[in-house]
Amino acid sequence: MPLKIVILAAGQGKRMHSKLPKVLHTLAGKPLLQWVIDAATDLNPAQTIVIYGHGGEQVRAAFTSVTADAEAVSFGVQATKVPQRQDPSYLEKITWVEQTQQLGTGHALQQAQHYFNDDDQILVLLSDTPLISTTTLRELITDTDKNALGLVTVTLDDPSGLGRIIRDAEDNVVGIIEDKDCNEQQQEIEEINTGIMLLPGKELKHWLGNLTAKNAQGEYYLTDVIANAVADQVPICTIEPTFTEEVMGVNDRSQLAYLERVYQQLAAETLMLSGVSFADPTRFDLRGELDVAQDVFFDINVIVEGKVAIGQGSKIGSNVILKDCVIGENVTINSNVVIEESVISDNCIIGPFARLRPGTQLAGHVKIGNFVETKKAIVGEASKIPHLSYIGDANIGKNVNIGAGTITCNYDGVHKNITTIEEGAFIGSDSQLIAPVTIGAGAYIGAGSTISKNAPAGKLTISRSKQTVIENWKPPKKNE
Ligand code: UD1
Ligand code: CA
Repeated sequence: MPLKIVILAAGQGKRMHSKLPKVLHTLAGKPLLQWVIDAATDLNPAQTIVIYGHGGEQVRAAFTSVTADAEAVSFGVQATKVPQRQDPSYLEKITWVEQTQQLGTGHALQQAQHYFNDDDQILVLLSDTPLISTTTLRELITDTDKNALGLVTVTLDDPSGLGRIIRDAEDNVVGIIEDKDCNEQQQEIEEINTGIMLLPGKELKHWLGNLTAKNAQGEYYLTDVIANAVADQVPICTIEPTFTEEVMGVNDRSQLAYLERVYQQLAAETLMLSGVSFADPTRFDLRGELDVAQDVFFDINVIVEGKVAIGQGSKIGSNVILKDCVIGENVTINSNVVIEESVISDNCIIGPFARLRPGTQLAGHVKIGNFVETKKAIVGEASKIPHLSYIGDANIGKNVNIGAGTITCNYDGVHKNITTIEEGAFIGSDSQLIAPVTIGAGAYIGAGSTISKNAPAGKLTISRSKQTVIENWKPPKKNE
């Protein structure tokens, strides 16, 4: 029977106190709603419907731009080496349904009911429960009979604020009572509704039709379908999540920060189990996907964003940001380095204090030192850019030495132009290479030169004026 997933994402999220709709707040760099969409997509349903409402335009725009951004990632380097982000086309398969007035979770589901057929199973997910795992959802689907109602519940020491599961003497679920509607005795109940339900399409439509807003919050509660199911003698099956935090909701920023740490701790533990070491696993942040080989070491405060791959034995120093890049084997990245959309081959040494911008591609044994910025720079085997340089739109051969303070002047105010430096060239310190320009193989450029024409291979080219001494010069004096 077809599985249809409805994600409730229209609520305002009052307790966030934010101009940004709650579902766009991020956990590990990804909007809350996207976490839930990703979980839904993994289940490969017949249809995924997102009920949106509060901040609707912002929500729709955010998901359109996620698509655009992902498509825009063209690294300008050998694309085969760089992992591409997830194919964004799954977003096009989502049905967006607007709930113009947010009258409660039951009212939210009513907005999608014309999509439900009698033989569908409807899985309801909440957009503010980002860590829900597909393991738990699959278990719910497997354990719930096709004509039954499935619920994910959990027992908490502090159930305050959540809907309580009411059971009869035989332990059968007979209802859910929202926190604000509980009497004192019901408030003691520790088993709560996670909000995740699997509903039989055949019954759901008339259950939704029966909902009223006669409760403490004056809302149409989805949780009232339970009493309907009991009245219709539809069996109710409950399962527990694999771990408690996956069903915890984000209602305020403190809960969001808590779940962020839960996620980061799990991410670090998973990496350690696969052979990665951390100076301190609590000071590591993964905001994307990391594909990592054994014996990689992370010093403190490393942030990994987007898609990153790191080869065997590489060492990542403190305060490093790696975004959408490939790092080879035995690479040393010293502290305070930022690398984005770049490929770093085996045995390179980078930093400290270097910034490698999109399109940087380093062959093996390259050294990039402190205060060096690169962009669209292809650097050959064993070349060195050790200090204080800007290298942009450059093709550099192997065994090239770039002296301190060298600048590729790649921009003429309108166009970007290429600097080519051939194998074995030596660029003296404080040189400006005005692109388009080529420095021939084995050429030497005298320190302090401004090079605006091609420099021939194997020759010394200097453009600075000769040093002179002004004989009659006197230091200036103050007017008397
Ligand atoms: C809900 C459940 C509660 C459960 C808790 C688990 C109901 C009535 N209550 O309470 O039993 O313990 O989740 O976290 O279902 N939404 C809409 N439209 C609306 C209202 C809400 O789309 O009109 C969406 C919100 O964006 C949110 C979700 O539904 O993603 C849950 O809404 P929220 O107001 O957070 O419900 P809770 O009070 O947390
Ligand atoms: Ca909630």
